[in-house]
Formats: sequence, structure tokens, C-alpha cells
Amino acid sequence: MPADAESVTLAAKALRAGEIVAFATETVYGLGADASNDEAVAKVFKVKGRPGDHPLIVHLLTVDEIDEWAVEISEEARDLAYAFWPGPLTIVFKRSAKASDSVTGGLDTVALRVPSHPVARALLTEFGGAIAAPSANRFGRVSPTSAEAVCEDLGDDIEIVLDGGPSRVGLESTIIDCSGDEITVLRPGGVTLDRIDEVLGYAVSVGGETRAPGTLEAHYAPNARVEIVTARDAPQIARDHLENGRKVALLAPPPVPIGLPTAVGVLEPPETDEEYARVLYDRLRAADHHGIDVVLAVLPVGSGIGVAVVDRLTRAAATK
Ligand code: TXA
Ligand code: MG
Repeated sequence: MPADAESVTLAAKALRAGEIVAFATETVYGLGADASNDEAVAKVFKVKGRPGDHPLIVHLLTVDEIDEWAVEISEEARDLAYAFWPGPLTIVFKRSAKASDSVTGGLDTVALRVPSHPVARALLTEFGGAIAAPSANRFGRVSPTSAEAVCEDLGDDIEIVLDGGPSRVGLESTIIDCSGDEITVLRPGGVTLDRIDEVLGYAVSVGGETRAPGTLEAHYAPNARVEIVTARDAPQIARDHLENGRKVALLAPPPVPIGLPTAVGVLEPPETDEEYARVLYDRLRAADHHGIDVVLAVLPVGSGIGVAVVDRLTRAAATK
């Protein structure tokens, strides 16, 4: 059921009472707690099964609130905030005293994001504070892009899911670290590197320290094993798996490779890179529903949002 004013009011009340709620954002669904309440934040870690030293993103209603949560904000960081917020960018700043260790995992920095989804914004407005929220999935698993996917993963542990329909972007925000001397992209995501370069006026560096769980090599994985293949090799690799008694599915941009065995389940092909991003997690979940053992994934070309799709598929493939 789509979130209405009444359910948003209930969710805001739950946040004030120190409870956790799941809610739609434009990237993926979040599992939120009052960012100023350590006990509430601890519940998020518990339900997700997430290690305590892995920091959360603090979601804000407006750009102006960064001055409450961060210090030593550079001009470039502010330019990025104004260019992309509300939207799928997370910026890492030096933290203010307001950002507690429970949110930052003990780091001296804090990750902030102003989401654009009307449901997330309605919740932030009604709650009147900042919401600490990771993606609403169990640690290491595929992020949810629908209310149904949240319930599947966390339904036993949470009472409120604010349904905002299928996520428009479909994978997580881009994380950019503006806390040090050099600006670095820590995680490719909803805002493309080209658009960031345009705002900065130079090519931003990518990579940096791997101090975030989303930047672990193995992450974002379904139950099925994910194997990255080329369209050309897919039919032979599929045959080998089938001969070994495995259930195989293909996830690939069109066209379906010639010679693909008919026993291979073809997950509905994404026509564009944007669509690949939007449907990726949903297709991986669908593979699990069908009891698939191996998903053969053909990467998108890898520019624009395709960079983030390549990143997530590579991490999913690194898991098993
Ligand atoms: O699109 C998104 O970013 C979604 C929606 C709900 O906003 N959230 C999300 O949260 O993907 P999560 O917790 O699954 O991933 C947040 C990432 C993690 O990799 C975390 O380590 C990183 O942000 N992060 C948080 N605070 C950080 C910090 N101070 N420095 C570096 N990385 C940080
Ligand atoms: Mg996550």
C-alpha cells in the first residue's frame, strides 16, 4: 500500500519513540532511526546484522542542515551539495559534535545525504530531525528496491515500511569523500562521475580508502552465485553448468546470445544502462525466487550509470 499522510505520521511518531522504520528513497529503501538517538541507531545495526564499526548515512531534509552535522565544509563540497541535492549523492564531511560515534562508527567523519523521494522527504518533514539509515536489507545482501523486498528481508523485525513504489535509481547513492585534502569517490552510484567532474571542473579521483562496508570487495550478493561472462562465452559456460546439474539464469543487455541453451532462464533484459541500474537488484532477487544456482551476468558497456552497475555486479560475483 503506498504511503499516505497517516502512515507517514505514524512512522514519524515511531522514530520519535526510538523505533526504526523502513522508507522509500529514490535510490534504494532505507532502514531509518533518529540520528540523534544512540539506542535507536543501535537497533538498526542489530536488525541488519551489521558490524558496529560500519558507519551509517545521515539523511537530512535540506542542504542548510549540513552546517549542524559537519565542520570545515569546503567550497567544492558545498558546490556538490547544491548541485546534486536533493538527490542520489552522499557526501562525507568532517563531523560536528552532533554526529555521534554510533552513527559514524567511531570515524571523525560523517556521511550526509538529502534524498529527493517524496516519501523520504515527507518523513523527514514530519519527523523534524535527521534520520540515520542504511539500506533496508540484511548485511551483505542485495539492497531492496521495493517495499515487498524490504518485507522479504526484514519483515519479522520491523513494523512500518513506507511504500513509495519501485525505486527510480535502483542502486545506492554515489559516495564522495570531501573530508580530506583530495576529493575522492568511494562508491559509484546514482550520480555519474561525468556529472561530478562537470561541477568540480576536473576529473575526480575514484577509489580511495576502503573503509566503508559498501566498498568491501564482496557485497550486494543474492543467494545464487553471480558469474560475470561475455555474451559470446555465455552459451558454453551455461552448458557446462547445466551438465553439472545447476539451474542457470542469464542477466544481460539485449539481444539474447545465439546458441544459449533453452534450459537457461533469461531474466528480462535491460534495454539501457539506466534500466540495468533500476532493475539489477530486482532481477537478482527474482533469480533467488526461482531457485537459480548460477546467474551469468553480462556487464553493461560501463560509462555513466553503467559504472555503478559494473561495480555492484563485480562485488556480487566476488562473494562466492
Ligand atoms: O542510496 C543510499 O545511499 C542508501 C539510501 C537508503 O540512502 N543508503 C545506503 O546505506 O546505501 P548503506 O549503509 O547501505 O551504505 C552506506 C555506505 C556504507 O558503505 C558506509 O560505510 C558508507 O556509506 N559511509 C557511511 N559513513 C561514512 C563515512 N563517514 N566515511 C566513509 N564512508 C561512510
Ligand atoms: Mg547497504
